[in-house]
Amino acid sequence: MSDYSKSVLMGQKIAFLGLGAMGSRMAARLLEAGYDLSVFNRTPDRAAPLVGRGASFEDSPRAAAAGCDIVISMVRDDEASREIWLDPGRGALAGLRDEAIAIESSTLTPAWVEQLSLAMAERQLRFIDAPVVGTRPQAEAGQLIYLVGGEVAVLERVRAVLLTIGGAIHHAGPIGAGTVMKLAVNALFGIQVAALGEALGMTRRSGISDADAIEALSSMPVTSPALKGVGALVAARKFDPMFPIELVDKDMGYYVKTAERLGSNTPTGSAVRAVYRQAIEAGFGGDNIAGVAKVFD
Ligand SMILES: NC(=O)c1ccc[n+]([C@@H]2O[C@H](COP(=O)([O-])OP(=O)(O)OC[C@H]3O[C@@H](n4cnc5c(N)ncnc54)[C@H](OP(=O)(O)O)[C@@H]3O)[C@@H](O)[C@H]2O)c1
Repeated sequence: MSDYSKSVLMGQKIAFLGLGAMGSRMAARLLEAGYDLSVFNRTPDRAAPLVGRGASFEDSPRAAAAGCDIVISMVRDDEASREIWLDPGRGALAGLRDEAIAIESSTLTPAWVEQLSLAMAERQLRFIDAPVVGTRPQAEAGQLIYLVGGEVAVLERVRAVLLTIGGAIHHAGPIGAGTVMKLAVNALFGIQVAALGEALGMTRRSGISDADAIEALSSMPVTSPALKGVGALVAARKFDPMFPIELVDKDMGYYVKTAERLGSNTPTGSAVRAVYRQAIEAGFGGDNIAGVAKVFD
């Protein structure tokens, strides 16, 4: 990056709240691009690598958000998001300046995102939901795909920042629409991976090795690119976490709950969620999504 573009970015101050597997990688991209970054994480130790590279750590979301132009949250679930933004003493909302733009990037329920947007609207703050598709390698490479809900004018104000972290942005509709789309994407992915595990349970018992079955399936049009990637991991028995089963279960639960709220049926999603719960009960909750195949071993 040239000194000139760095000096332009230097004018914008960003807070990043939540430095887990995804948040730490997304925040690192902002630092690399030259943004002035303040960070918060509930467990402060996880911030150390970013602080070592120039981020300033603050001991509450409120302190991290203070004086920032853009505040991004990337935490586990609805409860964590509530704590990060709305905690009466420490929450980021209380620290936001009137001109700031708030971005919620975690995978949450649209019901919660709508509640959060009302809290933002009470203070006339600009807000978008901007969950991401992709996992740790895509976060590291700046290749996440954003699904955004909210006003286009607000999205345009933060587009350059989002494109530091992601490679594409889809505007899905009003507040909450990005989150609805994200749950649809994860449901499709979760359903496919569970179905792959189930089908391999049958092929294996017939005497076909997983490697042979996956090689054949990978050349079939029914196998999506994402499923091919997971198939290779199952064939290699590589289950180290990228998108852990505990988070898949959370997202399948949010999908079913959201569909119910909208009056839509999810017989497939509900049945598949039970498979991920079974994986958690069997002790595979920390494994990557591919580990659900072990339920059918
Ligand atoms: N992993 C993926 O492939 C992937 C891909 C796309 C989207 N997502 C979504 O992105 C979000 C983050 O995922 P991740 O993989 O980074 O998860 P993670 O590694 O488990 O990190 C979770 C983050 O949330 C924080 N947190 C949890 N409960 C909290 C609370 N009550 N108050 C404040 N902070 C809290 C954690 O803080 P501590 O460090 O203190 O625990 C940590 O910073 C989730 O919504 C997930 O569904 C994940």
